[in-house]
Amino acid sequence: MKVYHVSSYADMCRKAANIISAQILLHPNSNLGLATGSTPIGIYERLVEAYDLGDLDFSGVTTFNLDEYCGLSENDPQSYHYYMNEHLFSKVNIDRANAHVPKGNTGDADLECKRYETLITAGGGIDLQLLGIGNNGHIGFNEPSTVFEKDTHCVSLDEGTILANARFFDNPSDVPRQAITMGIGTIMQAKKILLVANGKTEILNKSLYGPITPNIPASILQLHPDLTVIWSDK
Ligand code: GLP
Repeated sequence: MKVYHVSSYADMCRKAANIISAQILLHPNSNLGLATGSTPIGIYERLVEAYDLGDLDFSGVTTFNLDEYCGLSENDPQSYHYYMNEHLFSKVNIDRANAHVPKGNTGDADLECKRYETLITAGGGIDLQLLGIGNNGHIGFNEPSTVFEKDTHCVSLDEGTILANARFFDNPSDVPRQAITMGIGTIMQAKKILLVANGKTEILNKSLYGPITPNIPASILQLHPDLTVIWSDK
């Protein structure tokens, strides 16, 4: 595990974007695993900047997002589809057919989970997975549990997660109670993992240096052979 402790959010974003850029430059046909939340926003801004400068080409890149809320349409401004379009997909030359986000409103979540897991496997797996971390140590939407769920699955969100994500909604009662998320196995199979955290010192320390337990899902990352962590405490 490589841990970079940086001095600001801006530094964190630049370093993370540099790592993702290097992946794309060295392997233009990379499969990237992408994350949402407030933390990666500055990373996507740096990537868009690099694209605008002509330094990055997304035409060969395929992306798989970690998760999506259940019940929201792709055009709903609170959906992760919308977020990804806003922050990245509409701003670079990625082939939209290769920019994948689980669909939260198909009416058959279990089938969608299977479809998504198969899509990732058939695509050759993820080369570099970007991750944020929730206040309770969740990654994607893998909430604390008694087991590590392996594959893409449907989850009920914790009260704390609903509260934390309520800031993105007009009304806290609008936050969906369920989501589709890549499983812990799906994430751990990525060849490289890049975990970014802005603050969240206590949960990050527990995750990286405490016991490995499904009660802190991110703790499993200690077992990943190629984990880079970029952490800003300011
Ligand atoms: C959501 C996402 C996670 C993300 C987490 C933290 O729950 N599903 O992938 O890591 O939020 O978000 P933030 O970066 O806004 O703190």
